[in-house]
Amino acid sequence: MKFDLKNKTAIVTGGGSGIGRAISMTLASHGATVHIFELKTEVADEVVKEIEAMGGKALSHSCNVASQADVRNCVTAIGGKEAIDILINNAGIAHIGNVEKTAEEDFDRVYHVNVKGVYNCIHSVIPYMKEKGGVIINMASIAATVGINDRFAYSMSKGASLTMMYSVAKDYLSYGIRCNSISPARIHTPFVDGYLKNNFPDNSDEKFEELSRTQPIGRMGKPQEVADLALYLCSDEASFITGTDFPIDGGFIRLNGD
Ligand SMILES: NC(=O)c1ccc[n+]([C@@H]2O[C@H](COP(=O)([O-])OP(=O)(O)OC[C@H]3O[C@@H](n4cnc5c(N)ncnc54)[C@H](O)[C@@H]3O)[C@@H](O)[C@H]2O)c1
Repeated sequence: MKFDLKNKTAIVTGGGSGIGRAISMTLASHGATVHIFELKTEVADEVVKEIEAMGGKALSHSCNVASQADVRNCVTAIGGKEAIDILINNAGIAHIGNVEKTAEEDFDRVYHVNVKGVYNCIHSVIPYMKEKGGVIINMASIAATVGINDRFAYSMSKGASLTMMYSVAKDYLSYGIRCNSISPARIHTPFVDGYLKNNFPDNSDEKFEELSRTQPIGRMGKPQEVADLALYLCSDEASFITGTDFPIDGGFIRLNGD
């Protein structure tokens, strides 16, 4: 079977919802044992049940990726028993506002989850991965390479996610660790639904269509489409790929504008 992950152990942060949920289900359906690191354990438990119902293996861990102690405890508990083959740094939060509208506490909150959270996970997992190689994927965003209006702190954080990928890919090449990032444009997840509900309660359908059209292809992406790309990058079929960012964006980066 292509994209076979049998006998592989994967950690997916933020695996209880949206893109992380789809990645957890997809990696598990290809044979990986999936450890979900989540702030919201109740949603992670639901994903674990769904994976078990389809005959796969998964466990949920209560973990705030912004806390190095939390991450270390969870990683040590896994790494002490089995090799860690795959790390998907997916947990992330949004923030809206240009630099003037970004308060210090908002900047810090986004930094702690989206930047330090990625560092915490890579820092803890690498010593285990060095033994026999592995794969790391950072969930960046198109915001890492092109500006999106009114997303100062978020863009900062995704730029860091992208460049941490370059650094780790270079430093750990000789250990057989491949590191890549995925940069989605808008993907239809609870993240997007929550944004529309909170900011446009009276015209959320209209705004949904507007957001869909910002991708030249005319729609938002689906979590499963991102998960299938992640599956490929995690598999041995992608063993020639490291140090690369993969936009999955309906043409957003290259085809917007005349
Ligand atoms: N949806 C999009 O349009 C889009 C586009 C580009 C990039 N992304 C990125 O993809 C990733 C997933 O996005 P999504 O749309 O699936 O989001 P989502 O809100 O549906 O899911 C994110 C999950 O991460 C968890 N999480 C948040 N903070 C955490 C923390 N500190 N510790 C552990 N878990 C935490 C949440 O509980 C949630 O279950 C994010 O990094 C996001 O920035 C999303």
